[in-house]
Amino acid sequence: MSAELICFQSQCRARYPVTDVIYNCSQCGGLLEAAYDFSAIDPENLKQEWRRRRMSNAPLDQSGVWRYREIIPFLGDMGSVATLREGNTPLLDAGAAAPWAGLKRLTFKHQGFNPTGSFKDNGMTCGASQARRLGLKRVACVSTGNTSASMAAYAAAGGLQPVIFIPHGNISYGKLAQALEYGAKTLQVEANFDQILKLVRVLAEKLGIYLLNSINPFRIEGQKTIIVEMMDQRDWRVPDWIVVPGGNLGNVSAFGKALRELRSLGFIDKSPRLAVIQAEGAAPFYELMQGADELQAVEHPETLATAIKIGDPVSWPKAKHEVESSGGLVGKVTEQEIADAKAQIGRSGIGCEPASAATLAGIRNLIAAGRMDPEADVVAVLTGNLLKDPDYIYRYHTGQLEAPGGNQLHSRFGNQPIVVANDADRIAALLEERLLVE
Ligand code: F0G
Repeated sequence: MSAELICFQSQCRARYPVTDVIYNCSQCGGLLEAAYDFSAIDPENLKQEWRRRRMSNAPLDQSGVWRYREIIPFLGDMGSVATLREGNTPLLDAGAAAPWAGLKRLTFKHQGFNPTGSFKDNGMTCGASQARRLGLKRVACVSTGNTSASMAAYAAAGGLQPVIFIPHGNISYGKLAQALEYGAKTLQVEANFDQILKLVRVLAEKLGIYLLNSINPFRIEGQKTIIVEMMDQRDWRVPDWIVVPGGNLGNVSAFGKALRELRSLGFIDKSPRLAVIQAEGAAPFYELMQGADELQAVEHPETLATAIKIGDPVSWPKAKHEVESSGGLVGKVTEQEIADAKAQIGRSGIGCEPASAATLAGIRNLIAAGRMDPEADVVAVLTGNLLKDPDYIYRYHTGQLEAPGGNQLHSRFGNQPIVVANDADRIAALLEERLLVE
């Protein structure tokens, strides 16, 4: 099956071999995307084959990315695949979080169940495998945490050397700890995500290091499989909405591409609407979609949801196209709304990291504004694991969470731990009289 890279700009569409080490079109600077000759694909056969592979013990079949290899056929030879059995993430009933948001039913696709705890693993297995296929030995990324943890793991698993760049003081220890444990050379830079991405692009070129941020088109290919797996799990019933948090906008770009391809190949006969939710203090895409032609970068993005603390998202042209062509929209939410939504997701026994909770907060606002039908069939993608940001959680539940700028957030659904003496009678009385009453 032939594969190539094509410039995403509709007026350019320059083509490049899939083996070029290239991240932007060298003619117009546009984003690149992988394109394939899909003419041999038979959707009904593949649906059966993909289902059959769930029973297989072969590593490629056990991966929730490579199981769907026919839809991401950029490698040719599967010998370079580095896999940790990524994907395979559950669709979970949102429980009480659905009525809290105003929905009759809601499903979470929980990407936090991935090997390193976020959706980045879906993309990173592809990025790392492409690096191996190209014979490159070193890989780099800038990250607010999850990308670096994921890249470090896949590099280590694939025998590559990972170099990560993180904004100093703006990453949770849970994520940084992973990167250190997986053996990444870790540089903490006194700059924000957007500034460091520019720096890393220069360094990658200068030092011959393969760049594995989501500007890398093969990361996007892997993230497409989040949608393919979700549709497979839903027996190909198309939801009305897919809701996802937006930072650098790689994920929504991948989701839109997956939906376009699945539809044109006949796997599905309509597209869900894509809703992207941003944090109020880091919402350049929200502003763009209010009618501007070009994205205006936010110079000092601010949010406690560090994973989406991005002011100059590189993939905005793709994201704009995908949101518009799905009939979707972009919302923004406050820090308080994110914190409360996160606590609700926790109370449902599911839990997620702050950026992921922007989805539920955004849904609640859309329902309240009459922009989403309470009867709609909605899937919200929870992008990262609860344990990625324990400091945020502890502060929320103990009434110590401050928004950027210093405003104290309300712990509306707080759950304070209680210090007690080692005394069975007093503890029993406390439990019976105060804690277990309802
Ligand atoms: N959710 C989580 C948990 C993330 O880690 C990220 C991105 C996003 C959402 C935003 O996704 O960029 O595709 O729109 N985290 C990056 C990182 C920035 O460095 O780990 P996007």
